[in-house]
Amino acid sequence: MSDHDRLLALIAEAKEASAVERIRDEALEKQKLVPALFASIPSLPPGERKARGQEANELKRSCEELLAACKAWFENQALASERSGAGFDATIPGKRPERGSLHPLTRVTRELEDLFTSMGYVVLDGPEVELDWYNFEALNIPRDHPARDMQDTFRCDPQGNVVLRTHTSPGQVRAMERMQPPFRAIVPGKVFRQETTDASHEHTFHQMEGLVVGRDLSVGHLIGTMKTLLRGVFGKELEVRLRPGYFPFVEPGFELDARCPFCTDGCSVCKRSTWVELLPCGMVHPNVLRAGGIDPEVWSGFAFGLGLSRLVMLRYGIDDVRHLLSGDLRFLEQFA
Ligand code: DAH
Repeated sequence: MSDHDRLLALIAEAKEASAVERIRDEALEKQKLVPALFASIPSLPPGERKARGQEANELKRSCEELLAACKAWFENQALASERSGAGFDATIPGKRPERGSLHPLTRVTRELEDLFTSMGYVVLDGPEVELDWYNFEALNIPRDHPARDMQDTFRCDPQGNVVLRTHTSPGQVRAMERMQPPFRAIVPGKVFRQETTDASHEHTFHQMEGLVVGRDLSVGHLIGTMKTLLRGVFGKELEVRLRPGYFPFVEPGFELDARCPFCTDGCSVCKRSTWVELLPCGMVHPNVLRAGGIDPEVWSGFAFGLGLSRLVMLRYGIDDVRHLLSGDLRFLEQFA
């Protein structure tokens, strides 16, 4: 009996697709029919090897085809008998594959990236493990400056030269180093602070820094940009106001508030005041421009620090910041 016939005899006994698969494994892989043919080649006189090799390859190919056809036939049979059996209902909906979805932070980040790039901004990345120089010093916050106390810092080395960035503002100085003015940039990303966590504090959260460097920039440009940003985020024109705010890297520095997007006469989001505190911003301090290698006599700039986590919470009515990075599917599935 030839190998081929032996194979046919085996197949003739198979009763289902899985049996055909087993035969395939036995015959083609585990030193049975065809591998034996291949194994015999080295012991042949050189003149016969080529012909035997071709024969073995041919046999292997035809066996594979035959097995695949048999398997498909069994599978079709199984399906057909299932379909014709009692109780089969073709109208029952099939199984829905589970679909993932974007995290709300990713969604809002991407939306803002689209908005800002449409205004000529580039999107930059900065390291999460940052040098003290970029995180503080270059931002006009020297060692022992009390402003450092506002940002409880995770330090990575005993000398305190390396930190987990406490804000995305170091991206300002890195942007200045990389680009020639005039330019506009945003730097979205994760930041870290040693917080005791509660509904509004988390040790890891997200910010988006914005920086514009150009000639003769004014607070008017800053306000205009912020109004465009709000229109993009909330889909409507919102009145804004500036209050003085202290950040060593901007002068003057502001807290920008917007009219509450959710009410006209006070609600829980605006704590009945009709204003929501939205983001800190200001005109870039000359020392910071200098640290970034830019001449403050020629160039000016404005910067803003958008609290992405907070914005996402506002936008989707999320009442606890800890949900955002919890990885809890019950939370995440609400954004599918
Ligand atoms: N980096 C500051 C923080 O996280 C926020 C900030 C304030 C950013 C003023 C700015 C700015 O760009 O101009 O507390």
